[in-house]
Amino acid sequence: MTDVLIAPSILSSNFSCLADEIKAIDKAGADWIHLDVMDGHFVPNLTFGPPIIKSIRNYSKKPFDAHLMVTNPDDLLEEYVNAGVDMITVHKEVTPHLDRTLNRIRELGCKAGVSINPATSISGLEFLLDKLDLILVMTVNPGFGGQVFIESSLNKIKSIKELIKEKPIKIQVDGGINKVVAPMVIEAGANVVVAGSAVFNGDGVESYSKNIEALRYKIKKNEKN
Ligand code: DX5
Ligand code: ZN
Repeated sequence: MTDVLIAPSILSSNFSCLADEIKAIDKAGADWIHLDVMDGHFVPNLTFGPPIIKSIRNYSKKPFDAHLMVTNPDDLLEEYVNAGVDMITVHKEVTPHLDRTLNRIRELGCKAGVSINPATSISGLEFLLDKLDLILVMTVNPGFGGQVFIESSLNKIKSIKELIKEKPIKIQVDGGINKVVAPMVIEAGANVVVAGSAVFNGDGVESYSKNIEALRYKIKKNEKN
């Protein structure tokens, strides 16, 4: 059976009580905490950066997974590491010297990831496999929570799985993941599921843990069939 990790995106949490939301999602069984950093340039929306991440770091011991949807990720890598993140994922579309950036992230002691938008090909990733801990397949166009999953992502996930074979690189999916879609992306080869609106639905630990369990249940059920 695949070991699937669930990484709730705090983009869909209640920002007015972020510390409580982090504690709640931790208790509810999140494996990683997914942090959607948006700059208003690479994506239309704006969220948060290192100071906010630092302020919530101590509310959970779970790995902090930073997804940088920014045009200039290289400028602040050290700040994200100092804020306490464990993984940094940059976008292929805006990182011209991806090889160098991935090296730098690892030098700083973090796991390194690359993300690709729905219209971005996987070409070139074959040269980076020994520098990657994670490949994040965007399954919506980045910028907003609550969008609809893009079906063509399934073939892309399969191609990535074929490319990495048994290498210890996680395949993460992000956008529009719910109980229906989760089994499909896992079957295609993903093993880390980001979910925002499907997890932060309801209020507090009890609701969040039900939502996480529902995702896990559907994934396991599909694997048995
Ligand atoms: C989209 C973000 C996602 C988003 C997912 O730009 O990268 O992490 O929060 O939210 P849902 O699960 O609601 O699509
Ligand atoms: Zn994300």
